[in-house]
Amino acid sequence: MRRIIITGGAGFIGSHLADKLLAKGDQVLVIDNYQTGRRDNLKPHANLQIVEGSIADAGLVNQCFDDFKPELVVHAAASYKDPNNWVEDIQTNILGTVHVTEAAKRLQVKRLIYFQTSLCYGLKPLEQPITLKHPLFSGDYPGGSSYAISKTAGEQYIELSGMDFLSFRLANAYGPRNISGPLPTFFHRLTHGKACFVMDTRRDFIYVDDLINVVLKALDGKGERGYYHIATGSDYSIKELFDATIKALGIQLEQDVEVRPRGEDDVYTILIDPSKTEAHFDWKANTPLEFGVDQAIRYYQEFGIEQTFTHLKKMD
Ligand SMILES: NC(=O)c1ccc[n+]([C@@H]2O[C@H](COP(=O)([O-])OP(=O)(O)OC[C@H]3O[C@@H](n4cnc5c(N)ncnc54)[C@H](O)[C@@H]3O)[C@@H](O)[C@H]2O)c1
Repeated sequence: MRRIIITGGAGFIGSHLADKLLAKGDQVLVIDNYQTGRRDNLKPHANLQIVEGSIADAGLVNQCFDDFKPELVVHAAASYKDPNNWVEDIQTNILGTVHVTEAAKRLQVKRLIYFQTSLCYGLKPLEQPITLKHPLFSGDYPGGSSYAISKTAGEQYIELSGMDFLSFRLANAYGPRNISGPLPTFFHRLTHGKACFVMDTRRDFIYVDDLINVVLKALDGKGERGYYHIATGSDYSIKELFDATIKALGIQLEQDVEVRPRGEDDVYTILIDPSKTEAHFDWKANTPLEFGVDQAIRYYQEFGIEQTFTHLKKMD
């Protein structure tokens, strides 16, 4: 039985991981301030403790670490919901990350897991698929959002700490409990009689269970200090995602959804190369899009979506 802290454990990725660890018999402590997480994402469990609060609060973070004495830490908390609230992003994604990292180091935590956005490569990546050698955004290739800037600073502090860490740079994760990105937006609009459009872009969508499988292996000691991509390595058009949503909802539209040309800031596709992860973790994403979308839609139908979040521009 291991003792594992999950920051942001009431969120999409963190709560799926908590479920899996609890099922394996681990003890889990979640720190979450419910900015974008949901209370119903975590069911009560004898081996689960939840602390409601912010990782920006150093006293709270230190007390959690001192009392719980974790062997492993998964740092999944992140702020992104208001693109104009730079201060909140800095407090959570930089200051909070520093608090978590320093506490983990002080407690001699064996390994710290981080999740990074592929926006760290800038809005206009220089190659497709993006390899781990691609430079991080800078100068001529700006990060483009407070989220990307602060998450990247957080990642660099983790590396600076000298700790054993794995930073997983992710494609677009989707599945039950995911309330950011195009899928929940499509569901929300389609079930509220609102018109939809899709952009003429393609993205790599990684199903949450595929992603969690890598994280579980990393917590078991697989992989080495440094950076990894978690992605399928192939992309779908946003229209394909939309069509899978309609199919899962069992509805037929009178006319095909409008496909809009992408904006100047939009890249046609974002592919991140998962080959190092596949080799080091003996892993490959294998969930078909239609299955994953169907699972997500079942969740939205059962639990509803009160709000959806994006760190970029919103659909009107
Ligand atoms: N989902 C994706 O496609 C994706 C892609 C790239 C990176 N990531 C990263 O993965 C991690 C998990 O993201 P997610 O998709 O589960 O998002 P999420 O919003 O569901 O989870 C983030 C959690 O952090 C909590 N949180 C925010 N500020 C906090 C604070 N100051 N203190 C404590 N908790 C706080 C939120 O309430 C939420 O429960 C994040 O670090 C995110 O940057 C996700």
